[in-house]
Amino acid sequence: MPRPTRDLLALRGMGTAELKELLARSRAMIPAAMGRTDLSHILKGRAVGLLFFEDSTRTRLSFTMAAQRLGATTLDLASGGSSVSKGETLIDTALNVEAIGAAALVVRAKQSGAAHQIAQPAKIPVLNGGDGKHEHPTQALLDALTIAESLGRSAAFDLTGLSIAIVGDVISSRVARSNIAALSALGAQVIVVGPPTLAPKSMSTLGCKVEHDLDNVLPTVDAVMMLRVQFERHGGEGSSGASGGASHAAAPAKPPITPSSIVSVRAYREGYALTSARAAMLKPHAVVLHPGPINRGIEMDQDVADGPRSAVLRQVTHGVAVRMASLCWCLGIPA
Ligand code: CP
Repeated sequence: MPRPTRDLLALRGMGTAELKELLARSRAMIPAAMGRTDLSHILKGRAVGLLFFEDSTRTRLSFTMAAQRLGATTLDLASGGSSVSKGETLIDTALNVEAIGAAALVVRAKQSGAAHQIAQPAKIPVLNGGDGKHEHPTQALLDALTIAESLGRSAAFDLTGLSIAIVGDVISSRVARSNIAALSALGAQVIVVGPPTLAPKSMSTLGCKVEHDLDNVLPTVDAVMMLRVQFERHGGEGSSGASGGASHAAAPAKPPITPSSIVSVRAYREGYALTSARAAMLKPHAVVLHPGPINRGIEMDQDVADGPRSAVLRQVTHGVAVRMASLCWCLGIPA
């Protein structure tokens, strides 16, 4: 009997057993994600619709690679080159990609709830590739997989006894929301840290602790996840000028506009950047994560991003495995 298909829209509300199943399936996909084993028979002849109505590097390309590793083709839509620019709705666009023959849809959009709205009329599974400030479930799965692997917990994905800090622009972050849900469900204590405008006390209703003094928190945690200040969501002009150069060492071409929610980029850095000096305050085994894209020199120093504690590129590799597992899980493919 065929297994039921399902959407992957959010991690909040997902049971611990299901989370662990997804993580175990992701762990099993790592060799194939890295090209060491061949699983291209699994989705041979099928197509995955990639509906990216908002820019992306990691999520888009790793879903592309995941589909290819499983033998699927991709129907690749970017809003700039689609009929969305003529006024077609996201839902109409999605239903047309389904009608063309997609077996599943991956949706990235600026609007919170976009993937849920598309999932209502769609007859095929919908995977949320990040919706506004709401959730980014596959990102949190790859973060949990990376933390578990780095800290020797990937046999059972039980994170009991671990403390994990999520630092920075938490209020804007769909990555933080999905991680708070997933890491808490796996047993970890999550502490969000940032200035009160970016990490308000009200976030404790999500099941995390809220702190404002990073220096107090760092020596107590086993992992620290730094978040990008999302200038574009605070009415600023974006930060592409700060880190968009070809070289990591490139000087900012144009400094980011300071949003009203932080006093100044310099003050933010003084209080909340993971500098080399701050990284030295971490426990010896503690691991550093960042979902990307990184504003180098703002929320994290170069030496930390590229240093021995950094799991940043391991996260990205895990992203392919998680997305392979998620596509299979959603399409009802047995483990
Ligand atoms: N982490 C993440 O979602 O990166 P992209 O925006 O590049 O997909």
